[in-house]
Amino acid sequence: FAPIGDDGLIGGLLILEGLKSTLTVTFFAMILGAVLGVATTFMKMSDHWFWRWPANLYVGVIRGTPVVIQLVILYFIVLSALDVGVIGAAIIAFGLNSGAYISEIIRAGIQAVDKGQTEAARSLGLSQRQTMQEVILPQAIKNILPALGNEFIVLLKETAVIGFIGGVDLMRAGEIIRSRTFEAEVPLFTCALIYLVLTYGFTFMLSKLELRLKQSD
Ligand code: ARG
Repeated sequence: FAPIGDDGLIGGLLILEGLKSTLTVTFFAMILGAVLGVATTFMKMSDHWFWRWPANLYVGVIRGTPVVIQLVILYFIVLSALDVGVIGAAIIAFGLNSGAYISEIIRAGIQAVDKGQTEAARSLGLSQRQTMQEVILPQAIKNILPALGNEFIVLLKETAVIGFIGGVDLMRAGEIIRSRTFEAEVPLFTCALIYLVLTYGFTFMLSKLELRLKQSD
């Protein structure tokens, strides 16, 4: 592996290819996770156990097992008969994983709003639904958004286990280059640096958002 020359070029292309997979999986898994997270929150806040228990079971199982096992089980067992491909399976696995964490983020964000807010809104004659929509959620969103940003960063880094099912993400690309060239420093530090730039860039955007949310306090 040389920074310039044929090896360097092939290595660079592989890294780019890996980066594309990392970003694709992270992006779509976050969307899937958000949908599942909202649905799960609704189920968990239901008055009826029939809706609550599957939601609780889902969150419990996902949070109680490593994401890498979930990924491998999903790809080699659950989805093995379907032709979803490595990237498709990764999106589903990380989406399912993230959904459980996102539902907890939303729940925590709602519960962090003082109970007095509900009591005041209800005593002013607002219905339960109005209270949620007009009073609680606008305040909860300030707790939820920053935490969702964190979830995105966790997810981005966590996709580094995609190599377990044979996918070539950023991490795996670095590993392939290392194993073929017997040169560890350049590919691994390059990968680490790319992750760092991505998470730093995102953290920066998040801090801007948080500042704006604070302004309305
Ligand atoms: N490393 C932890 C695990 O293996 C984190 C899982 C992903 N976390 C998340 N917030 N989506 O279970």
